[in-house]
Amino acid sequence: MTEGNGAVDVIVVMGVCGSGKSSVGRHLARRLGWPFLEGDDFHPPENVARMAAGVPLRDEDRRGWLDAIAARLAVARAQGRPVVVSCSALKRRYRDRLRAGAPGLLFVHLDGARETILDRMARRTGHFMPASLLDSQLAELERPAEDERALVCDIGPAPEEIAARVAPLLAGLGLDGGRVHQRTGEASAMAQGNSADIGVIGLGVMGRNLAANLADHGAVVAGTDLDDGRRAALAADVPGGVPCAGPEEMLAVLKAPRVVLMMVPAGAAVDALLSALLPRLSAGDVLIDGGNSHYQDTRRRAAQASAAGVHFIGLGVSGGEEGARRGPALMAGGTVEGIGRVAPLLRAIAARAADGEPCFARVGPDGAGHFVKMIHNGIEYADMQLIAEGYHLLRHLGGVGYGRLAEMFAEWNGGELASYLMEITADILRTSDPETGAPILEVIRDAAGQKGTGHWATTAAMELGMPAPTIAEAVHARCLSALKEERGRAASAFPPPPQAVPPDGFAADVGDALLCGRIAVYAQGFAVIAAGSRRFGWDVDLAAVAAVWRGGCIIRARLVDRILAALRRTPDLPNLMFDPDIAALLARGEAGWRRTVGAAVAAGQPVPAMASALSYWDGYRSDRLWANMIQAQRDFFGAHGYERTDRPGMVHTDWSSGR
Ligand code: 6PG
Repeated sequence: MTEGNGAVDVIVVMGVCGSGKSSVGRHLARRLGWPFLEGDDFHPPENVARMAAGVPLRDEDRRGWLDAIAARLAVARAQGRPVVVSCSALKRRYRDRLRAGAPGLLFVHLDGARETILDRMARRTGHFMPASLLDSQLAELERPAEDERALVCDIGPAPEEIAARVAPLLAGLGLDGGRVHQRTGEASAMAQGNSADIGVIGLGVMGRNLAANLADHGAVVAGTDLDDGRRAALAADVPGGVPCAGPEEMLAVLKAPRVVLMMVPAGAAVDALLSALLPRLSAGDVLIDGGNSHYQDTRRRAAQASAAGVHFIGLGVSGGEEGARRGPALMAGGTVEGIGRVAPLLRAIAARAADGEPCFARVGPDGAGHFVKMIHNGIEYADMQLIAEGYHLLRHLGGVGYGRLAEMFAEWNGGELASYLMEITADILRTSDPETGAPILEVIRDAAGQKGTGHWATTAAMELGMPAPTIAEAVHARCLSALKEERGRAASAFPPPPQAVPPDGFAADVGDALLCGRIAVYAQGFAVIAAGSRRFGWDVDLAAVAAVWRGGCIIRARLVDRILAALRRTPDLPNLMFDPDIAALLARGEAGWRRTVGAAVAAGQPVPAMASALSYWDGYRSDRLWANMIQAQRDFFGAHGYERTDRPGMVHTDWSSGR
């Protein structure tokens, strides 16, 4: 080893093919908190082709490649950023080219026996350099001379270990963590040149898992977050992940046209990020909001981005943490062109339905994706509420123990009621509290939380004039549950509900109520999506929505297969309950549904979702409703007018003369 003077700001990890320079370089970069450049990325395609064909490169082939690396190092120096690069640098004159004008450059030469290298190369896959090139490279190799500033390392140990051994030696070369380190902290803007396929802003649970999912599918993912730990986790946990200090640095590593995925909390954070990013993006870039944003915000943001020529995609992402990692359901709203650009990536990471189709679709322009996701959440709220009511009735009116309850839900999950939410309910019912050994539900406080998407779904339905009473009731039910203290006071202040015994066949009846309630809930949700589509001119393909909801998302259920078939049969079905197959399910369960609601009402057990779903069904298929009385009252006190049954047009009655 020989040393020069002054701080090291460029480390070139060199050696013949198979010596492990990329792995050691990456580990070293990570240890130092410096960016890493893969020297092979600077080869022009002709060089790659030559090497892949087993043809050794000549000096003239390497000239442009070395110039490109040297130019990149010059940029790094100009920016005051140290960097680690891997490069074979076999000959003295190649190294002279790299160190020209780079006084802080240090070579780390990975030296090893031919047999060791051959053995490694035999085990290596996916690399373009065949083992046959090793001998020609060894023949060309001019090991660094005494007067060259270089560390020589034996390639025997694992790459991590070599990096661990080299890093402390650098301090002795004047690299003391002060002057050189202070502007860095992570692999950043130059980490991969501009070779990242997508940049993720916000590396919380969802962002980090989506990043890992994208990397699993071959994407180079750059990412940034305000939190140091999350950025470090990207480097540690996501293969090839490129942590960046901030959005600007991240944009610099993205391939053009750039694709940025925002995974930040809905609301002000998205607007702030949008304002910061838009001036830095170019026409044709794609900006994706993967959070649970309100669809009206997405419509506004899409217009704002479009004025800058940027494609804005409102992406509904469902499936929670596990879905994000292994396959979410993805509902995209945006331009055909913008979504087309990212569709291969989104299709690759999405869940698969049973027929192998990816659970991804462009459901319409601008806010359509977030609208569909919002209604997904409304259905999620309502189906959760139905299931919670079913459990509660069976436990408190039916007197069924937790063990049996778990079995019942598991059995239901094997039939027509099969769904993700049924499955996790069975798991919950068989779980004990690790502290007390009691059934876990006995120790969970009965006050539900919510983040607001159910409320948004309800409000949107109301604004569109489309009934979604069970979704609304599910939100109200959570609100009611949250009045925990008040409920406690009321429970002592008022007499207990009437004593009641469950009717015969109660468990089967509850199963019917769950299935019929679920049908009514999906019917409400799809009707609201259709109404939104009409209002905003989105032309949402309801069958495509059903196809996406078959996998990955929280509301995936066997019923969705029937819904998809129904919508394929009749795309403009005014309500799912009109479909003969779905109507037959309702007819089969109707009596049990009624008995369940009746028994609950008689026993003073609240069943807001089951009862509202039943009233929705009864109301929807009633030719004559109570609304004549409402109209009369409105006209009576407000002269609002009403329509007659026997002729068109509005009329008003002089109510004082009719009495
Ligand atoms: C999903 C979920 C998810 C939702 C949570 C929490 O599809 O993965 O819908 O997006 O945010 O379920 O919602 P609440 O806190 O409002 O229950």
